[in-house]
Amino acid sequence: MHLPHSRTLASRLTEARAASDALFDVVKPEFLYERPIRERHRIVFYIGHLEAFDRNLFDKRLFDLPSSDARLDRLFAFGIDPVDGQLPTDTPADWPTLAEVHAYGRDARSRIDDQLSALDLPVDASNHDTPGQLLNVAIEHRLMHVETLAYMLHQLPFEQKRAPGAARPRSDHRYDVEHEMVQVPAGRTELGMTAERGVFGWDNEFGEQQVDVPAFEIDRFMVTNGVFLAFIEDGGYRRRDLWNDADWAWKESAQVEHPVFWSRGPEGWQLRTMFEDIPLPRAWPAYVSHAEASAFARWRGAKLPSEAQWQRAAHGALPGYTDDFDFRSWDPVAVDATPDSVSTWGVEGLYGNGWEWTSTLFGPLPGFKAFPFYEGYSANFFDGQHYTMKGGSPRTAQCMVRPTFRNWFQPHYQYVYAGFRCVRD
Ligand code: AVJ
Ligand code: FE
Repeated sequence: MHLPHSRTLASRLTEARAASDALFDVVKPEFLYERPIRERHRIVFYIGHLEAFDRNLFDKRLFDLPSSDARLDRLFAFGIDPVDGQLPTDTPADWPTLAEVHAYGRDARSRIDDQLSALDLPVDASNHDTPGQLLNVAIEHRLMHVETLAYMLHQLPFEQKRAPGAARPRSDHRYDVEHEMVQVPAGRTELGMTAERGVFGWDNEFGEQQVDVPAFEIDRFMVTNGVFLAFIEDGGYRRRDLWNDADWAWKESAQVEHPVFWSRGPEGWQLRTMFEDIPLPRAWPAYVSHAEASAFARWRGAKLPSEAQWQRAAHGALPGYTDDFDFRSWDPVAVDATPDSVSTWGVEGLYGNGWEWTSTLFGPLPGFKAFPFYEGYSANFFDGQHYTMKGGSPRTAQCMVRPTFRNWFQPHYQYVYAGFRCVRD
């Protein structure tokens, strides 16, 4: 039994708010109108978005929430997904002041809390069409943004943020792990789940599909920075044959020559962490875009796993960590550091050390039905432009580190805490 499920939904919402507040506190206030990732909104948008989302979701469905500002309800309703080549052009002056945004958020929270305390909430309601489902959507939506905001703040210059608390000591950066592949025998795997299971999931997790997967072999560990470096040194970013047309065109026009988290320092390669550059830790998972992962796989004479292969490889692995709290660290650990969570076939580190890219385009499972209260959450991204990712990162809240959870991003989006492993048929 994991703690999050025995806590009440109302207290989980309160904790999720504390987590998002703490993240915005990382930014020095004078930089809250910055746009650290040029394809995304300015930071201030997200301060308003998290509160507007909950308000818009609960209003009329859970209870009536008179609006303090209908314009802000709409302004902060939805984020943006980058369209290739098109960048937002708004200026800081186009946004409300911090005082206005905070007042809007305080008002939304207090109206929600007044109503919630009067509502008879089940302890762990998670079935469909219940208040519990809407509460779970609000909680997980917020916690997802706590992760995607971390990607965004990761790109903010170090001087514009402040580290909360003391940094955790890190392991030796020089060693790498022995890489090997393990055999996964032919067999059946299950994607998704049915509503009868009675647990909360997003719309894209429903529909249950049995897939027969032929035998294959897969990396025991995620691909490390150390091995990815060998690809770079072998000219991987300059070899046309390793990249498909779209990926090559992107790489050329964006002038990508190494993972976005890497830079060349006076003493060699370094890794950008949230608050400082450090010597490249060889044994950490390499966080790269889908395009870079695919090129690496081709260089190795291998492929990225399909979603079904990943799911089959993960059979028997326990999601979650040995400790109970969320957001344990800003950083991953060495790929071989979690031997307590190994799949039936000996595959390690599947949950929580970095999302893993698959070769499967994000799409609906058979019987998919969009949430009527949030039609576009998944369906807007069934467009052949996004790839499914599995597992979870060190910044993924524990409640979402579950076998059915599916994440997705565009293949050229480099900022995600996502790595990969390779397979051979
Ligand atoms: C599921 C992480 C891809 O951030 O684009 C947040 C989650 N959707 N608000 C995203 C999401 C709407 C989504 N991901
Ligand atoms: Fe959102």
